[in-house]
Amino acid sequence: MDYSIETSALDKQQTDCIIVGIYENQQLSPSADSIDKLNQGVISQLIERGDIKGKNSETLLINHLPNSSIERILLIGLGEKEKLTAKLYRKALSSAVTALKSLKIKSACCTLVDIEIKDKNATWKTRQIIEVFNDAIYLFQNTKSIKDPAIDLAKISISISDELAPEAETGLSQGIAIAKGMDLTKLLADLPGNYCTPTYLAEQATVIASNSNNMSVEILEESDMEALGMGSFLSVSRGSRQPAKLIVLNYQGGAKDSKPVVLVGKGLTFDAGGISLKPGAGMDEMKYDMCGGASVLGTLQAAADMNLPINIVGIVPSSENMPDGDANKPGDVVTSMAGLTIEILNTDAEGRLILCDALTYAKKFNPEVVIDLATLTGACLVALGRVPSGLLGNDDDLCNDLIDASETACDSLWRLPLWEEYHEQLKSNFADLANIGGRDAGTITAACFLSRFTEDYRWAHLDIAGTAWRSGGANKGATGRPVPLLSQYLIDRANA
Ligand code: BES
Ligand code: MN
Ligand code: ZN
Repeated sequence: MDYSIETSALDKQQTDCIIVGIYENQQLSPSADSIDKLNQGVISQLIERGDIKGKNSETLLINHLPNSSIERILLIGLGEKEKLTAKLYRKALSSAVTALKSLKIKSACCTLVDIEIKDKNATWKTRQIIEVFNDAIYLFQNTKSIKDPAIDLAKISISISDELAPEAETGLSQGIAIAKGMDLTKLLADLPGNYCTPTYLAEQATVIASNSNNMSVEILEESDMEALGMGSFLSVSRGSRQPAKLIVLNYQGGAKDSKPVVLVGKGLTFDAGGISLKPGAGMDEMKYDMCGGASVLGTLQAAADMNLPINIVGIVPSSENMPDGDANKPGDVVTSMAGLTIEILNTDAEGRLILCDALTYAKKFNPEVVIDLATLTGACLVALGRVPSGLLGNDDDLCNDLIDASETACDSLWRLPLWEEYHEQLKSNFADLANIGGRDAGTITAACFLSRFTEDYRWAHLDIAGTAWRSGGANKGATGRPVPLLSQYLIDRANA
């Protein structure tokens, strides 16, 4: 998709369709109003006739304007002006792109940066247009020999006044970088487990690094991890024929001595549960257990594309979790890189086993903060559903910064407590800690487990089990979350 900024007059633009807004009291957006006046009140007449009320996400196409150079106008309902939130704005954008897709329109010009939303500038609106449009035109075809019909929409211009053009340009470059990062994350996530193995993820990380002047990559093999004492991580991969990889991407956009933000993403390319085998129904979706890792790769690519003037390290422990004669058994005790011993009471709680060693490894980078992201617990879906990602951490400032970024990015988070009382649930008679904490508060006890390995730095954990992909049915597919949130957090840090 080609995205651009256009400052020329609306009736001078080369496009198949101009997108304009209308509120529920039938008030027109500034661009809708000027087009209406240039075209003998064509929009007003349709409103008068009752063809569009302006309810949010309502659409109406005017596909013939006999006395105009404009080919088509797509009217988008915005709802009540006073109630137009960021979320409703995105919803209206999404209805616009759905309409364009079904109408098989090839190019469109979006004027909706002219819509007022509280506290949102042209940068934010431009970015949202690109993120929402790009998300909607993603189509996974890699493993299909009979391809779905291609999407016709290939060019989006965003129309803007001269004085707002600089703001919109920032939004354009951020939006394109983030949208591309999400595309990469979604593609890696949607690829099945027999394609997207730890080795494949490592190869893709190498490609990402080679596309940037400021990024280097290091892939640690099982022998390297052995030497580092990563007994917990390696115990998970022992049950798999695929060799584990520890992927380390190092983006140096900032001063040499400035401490990096370290992102750690769970890269379980298939989670069968191990000897504590998962039930069969829906098990295919455990190919998505690498979404944390894929989001780290997508975010680093976006940060590099935006040339952010900060240092960022991405760490992706990647493995499969399979049943095998050599796999972990319930009751096994393993020794982590940090030296803590772990009793594995359920081999399906493997994410924390690979993350704990990666989190210990993160210390080597002298991090400013560490943020891990993982499809860690089914319990997070029970607690929060598929709307926000779960947030837990040992530092209020970091958690609040992440919540601020999540609100700006419309990629929501909800914080859960990490109180010491919960640590009781991880007690073991045979090791320093157990890898499960019973039925209650599963998301919290999983984070409590991780917190034992993150005491030396400011740390936050995102449980993305409910947000990284859409489950089941026709809509099944990766979302690219939380790339928008993490990108926003990094943009905010770069601006601070
Ligand atoms: N990858 C799963 C978590 C998961 C399950 C994410 C379903 C999204 C949907 C994780 O490795 C896991 O299996 N967790 C167990 C932990 C339990 C054994 C304490 C779970 O959530 O059931
Ligand atoms: Mn599991
Ligand atoms: Zn898992």
